[in-house]
Amino acid sequence: MLSKSKINEVIAEIEKFSANKIEEVDAFRIEHLSKKGTIAQLFGEFKTVPNEQKKEIGLALNKLKTIATEKINSLKEELLSADNIEKTLDLTLPGDDVKLGSRHPLSIVRNEILSIFSRLGFVISEGPEIEDDWHNFSALNFPKEHPARDMQDTFFVEKDPDIVLHTHTSSVQVRDMESHDLPIRLVTPGRVFRNEAISARAHCIFNQIEALYIDKNVSFADLKQTLTYFAKELFGQETKIRLRPSYFPFTEPSAEMDVTCSICHGKGCNVCKGTGWLEILGCGMVDPNVFELNHLDKDKYTGFALGMGIERIAMLKYTINDLRLFFENDIRFLEQFTAADI
Ligand code: DAH
Repeated sequence: MLSKSKINEVIAEIEKFSANKIEEVDAFRIEHLSKKGTIAQLFGEFKTVPNEQKKEIGLALNKLKTIATEKINSLKEELLSADNIEKTLDLTLPGDDVKLGSRHPLSIVRNEILSIFSRLGFVISEGPEIEDDWHNFSALNFPKEHPARDMQDTFFVEKDPDIVLHTHTSSVQVRDMESHDLPIRLVTPGRVFRNEAISARAHCIFNQIEALYIDKNVSFADLKQTLTYFAKELFGQETKIRLRPSYFPFTEPSAEMDVTCSICHGKGCNVCKGTGWLEILGCGMVDPNVFELNHLDKDKYTGFALGMGIERIAMLKYTINDLRLFFENDIRFLEQFTAADI
């Protein structure tokens, strides 16, 4: 039966206890003060105590609990005090290794491209990923029956054929023309969406960068010089460019730009399929129809635009042969890229 002497025994045991480590204090607390600890058990036995002893035993039990709690608190305080930590810690041990993350290769390449254009005075602008037909197609002079509007290429939102996930960053050109006074010189990074099967060379979500320059007397020579500077900065000073005639609804004339293969330097290898050239981007002079559609004076202003896929450039720059690697986020892949300053 629960007696005062039994309680005093436990008190004596608690008072005797000492510890050198905080873990020992924790174990002691669990032994005595937890739900199933000795003190809780003694409290459980209290109901068997005859009424005339209840007052005395009750007081003793409460004293025991107070002593135990105070003992634990004072031991903890002592062990965690600065003096004690200094005594027990070996400050000469090497610190824990803090792993630094690295930038995603697509971010490195995007930042590099943006930085080249910003050195030419281009300012970053961004637009919405969910667009209406006007900004993604119509205002860019896409004829109504143009195949790019086809269900196969474009993701439509909520079955409303007027709302799409923008298929290119060219849609932001239209927003820029609406919201900025001329002249404009903007560079636009963005994620774009196309209803394509995922493979080593294509993905339904990818990243583009667009540049748009509109002013009085902007000429094709300005475009060519900008492209030459851009290619040399990105791929190295020995890089040459060539322009091939092409077609885009929003530019006239339009061109595609190739750069000399950065792997074989123009000799021909399997990355450039033996041609010595790599296709990098689309570009051209802003079509006068686009100026008209966007209420700009086509007789007063001219402009150039260009657009490129960031994944493609990163694949060429780092000789990566599968675009899916960019999206898998496998740390073993991502760790290999470092950018000191961007
Ligand atoms: N929007 C085109 C695409 O997604 C890329 C492009 C080509 C952008 C020519 C331009 C340009 O600004 O002038 O394929």
